Amino acid sequence: MSILSRREKHLGNGQKYFYKKPLHIVKGEDVWLIDDKGKRFLDVYNNVAHVGHANPRVIEAITKQSNALNTNTRYLHENIVKLAERLAVSTQNHLDVAYFCCSGSEANDLAAQIAKAHTKHQGCIVLSNAYHGNTTEIFQLSPEDCPKEHRKDWVKTIPGPRSFLENQSAYIQTLKEEAEDLIDSGYGVACFIADSIFSSDGIYEIPKGFLKSIYREIRSYGGVVIADEVQSGFGRLGEQMWGYQDDSVIPDILTMGKPMGNGHPVSALLTRREMIESLDKAYNGNSYFNTFGGNPVSAAAALSVLDILEEDNLIEQAGEVGSYLKKQLKKTLEENESVVEIRGKGLFLGIELDDPSKTAKAMEDMMHQGVLVGKTGPKNSVIKLRPPMTFKKEHADLLVDTINQCLRVIS
Ligand SMILES: Cc1ncc(COP(=O)(O)O)c(C=O)c1O
Repeated sequence: MSILSRREKHLGNGQKYFYKKPLHIVKGEDVWLIDDKGKRFLDVYNNVAHVGHANPRVIEAITKQSNALNTNTRYLHENIVKLAERLAVSTQNHLDVAYFCCSGSEANDLAAQIAKAHTKHQGCIVLSNAYHGNTTEIFQLSPEDCPKEHRKDWVKTIPGPRSFLENQSAYIQTLKEEAEDLIDSGYGVACFIADSIFSSDGIYEIPKGFLKSIYREIRSYGGVVIADEVQSGFGRLGEQMWGYQDDSVIPDILTMGKPMGNGHPVSALLTRREMIESLDKAYNGNSYFNTFGGNPVSAAAALSVLDILEEDNLIEQAGEVGSYLKKQLKKTLEENESVVEIRGKGLFLGIELDDPSKTAKAMEDMMHQGVLVGKTGPKNSVIKLRPPMTFKKEHADLLVDTINQCLRVIS
């Protein structure tokens, strides 16, 4: 029986395959993925392998710590403390208390619990096509996947950044109306949560003042704000460690995951002590334990990712290569009538096409030509480019050539 038939027989089928004939990847090397036939693909999609697939320094850190000890966080261990300290510094110590978990969903779930305990409100506001995770609570805050008929009435949505760019005062008015609706129905405003590159809403650089205006309104209703940096964090936008820093705001809670351990499952939440204390108070002091979250091996993986970002100057490199890539894409695709807009920042770019079927075809055709990209946006019409941070100009050139060839045929 083929691996595909065996998988279909024994695995849940909630997650879709990327391609009509699913790829069988057996090896990763830096920005390359290699399939079972030995074919090499340039990986322009997988942000989890942040410092490159099979990075030897991450492997060494994991191996060394696995040889010494792995256990849970009810014991003292240097790694978890060091990691919390370094993450706090990355926020200029504005958010200096951490909890560690194993996935972005868990970190966001905990963030929502803290927000509700701290504000004593229940209502949450999210962007209209956001994705924040898969727990019962957070699936509600993920309108991209949670069908409207399943959405609880303590969740309200506001449009993505495009509407703000079109009319700022109308946008803020909509936000106010949704917040007041939550108050009128007795839920109050507990939190607003957004991904700082708005990936599922179509990939947008934060419009100037966007987060600042929303944060101001949410706080005026007694709510707290959560920056979901699961996709945008760890320097991916090429300038600062966290995406929200681009709008000169400070969230009350910051969540992170995916790239944090370069593939090793580790995630975290950063906030202030008073927020954590509110959760403690609500649950009589036993507010949070996570068997695997922040274990010594996960923390070693995350520390090595931080080291590599610094030692190899990868944030600056992502800024340079990302700007180069965006410029080349704009120049090369300028005359292509299918291209609506090229957006994004650093190594997180999107190419919006005029028809989602063209986006799907481009993704499929590019795979056949040896380049892996994704798709996103409310209509799935945006080609999503989000490679490992070790992506260089020569890779950008290969990507631009391949996109150009594929889109020329499709248009
Ligand atoms: C912005 C964002 N937040 C949270 C999550 C959930 O993370 P995880 O899949 O690790 O639970 C995702 C996953 O795609 C995401 O993109």
